[in-house]
Amino acid sequence: NKKSLEPITPEDFLIIAHRGASAYAPEHTIPAYEIAQQADADYIEIDLQMTKDGVLVAMHDEKVDRTTDGVGFVIEYSLEELKQLNAGRWYNSANPGLANKEFEDLKVPTLQEIFSHFGNDVNYYIEMKSPKIYKKMEEKLVSLLIQYNLIRANGELPKVIVESFNEDSLTRLHQLEPKLPLIQLFYFKEEATLSVQHYNRLSNFASGIGVNISSVDNDFIQEVQLNGFQVYLYSINNEIEMKKALNLQANGAFTNNPDMGISVRTEF
Ligand code: G3P
Ligand code: CA
Repeated sequence: NKKSLEPITPEDFLIIAHRGASAYAPEHTIPAYEIAQQADADYIEIDLQMTKDGVLVAMHDEKVDRTTDGVGFVIEYSLEELKQLNAGRWYNSANPGLANKEFEDLKVPTLQEIFSHFGNDVNYYIEMKSPKIYKKMEEKLVSLLIQYNLIRANGELPKVIVESFNEDSLTRLHQLEPKLPLIQLFYFKEEATLSVQHYNRLSNFASGIGVNISSVDNDFIQEVQLNGFQVYLYSINNEIEMKKALNLQANGAFTNNPDMGISVRTEF
């Protein structure tokens, strides 16, 4: 009783700029997202953390140490304090060949600043990073999405997709806004597998999954898609892996190099 699947054509395969075009600019800064936009990425990926005073900000880690000149947890900073930190100089020191004066004065952007800056001009792929430690993170996200009228389609694509490793957070988001497309993230150390129970649980809230490319093969991807879910692969940062992701007929891939993703997809 297997459903047949339409093959995913290269044009359907979404290129998601992982933390922005984070190969070329400090991750989760406006220039990183702008480079992704200029490369024509289908989505810019934004990881969310939250300040002590309840403001959603774009940062991958719970701590500011790696990507700013500060120390400690984001949750220990008010927005005003967080805005004192420099979010670009670390990149110039770590990447002398790609260092850019423009990165010297960058601040950590709030989600609202990102929405104000890019508005309707990009699609957003947003990750709830540590929802267990942040109170009402889901409510705050949904209210911003409503304020900026982002819960809607943009042509064939949803304007916003939300992803998380945390099932409770996705379930809460689904209760708050059933129309929001939600992606359950998984990391498999070895071969990816999902049980019937897993699929049943996912069907309560998710439109797809995100999974590390090292764990999957064609059979797994096809099984997930036959169960009605999309599959996004992370993180693909060279041409060989990007071709592999396209050959796997996944629905898209996260990459720090969206220009590379677009050119591999075009030539595929
Ligand atoms: O979106 C999948 C990927 O972003 C998860 O990895 O650690 O870069 O957020 P990470
Ligand atoms: Ca992420």
